[in-house]
Amino acid sequence: MSHQIYQILHILGILMVFLGYGALLGRALAGSDCPRLKKMGSITSGIGLLLILVAGFGLIAKLGYSYGETWIWIKLAVWVALGGMIAAINRKPCCASKIWWILLALGTIAIAAVYWFRFL
Ligand code: HEM
Repeated sequence: MSHQIYQILHILGILMVFLGYGALLGRALAGSDCPRLKKMGSITSGIGLLLILVAGFGLIAKLGYSYGETWIWIKLAVWVALGGMIAAINRKPCCASKIWWILLALGTIAIAAVYWFRFL
């Protein structure tokens, strides 16, 4: 598979995580217990996390990056934190508005890692 396909899948994964988590947080903020929204949000974010990981490692292999590079470890840490957020969203609906901004901060760190930190 070409690295362009991995790049497309990687970014699609990011879109799916933020769409899914956005839906779950909207559900929490609205005080709704809509099961369909919970299912859509959980499945979409779950598939998104998998796509980010698989395509991310595909990009490492295709573009010849080494696993020792700090920016890649930063992104892996962000990915783990993003993955853990589903528990916070489901268990702490009262903190939905805080989680909203934490998610955006995590995304910003990952993007800064790829467009800035790796060139430092
Ligand atoms: C498992 C964790 C991750 C790994 C191993 C990983 C790995 C990579 C690699 C190797 C690249 C290619 C860099 C290049 O084009 O030279 C990349 C690009 C990118 N990653 Fe990740 N990434 C991970 C998680 C994330 C997360 C969580 C986000 C954002 C929320 C993210 C956002 C991006 C963006 C925006 C690009 C640039 C795409 C481009 O301009 O081609 N990544 N990632």
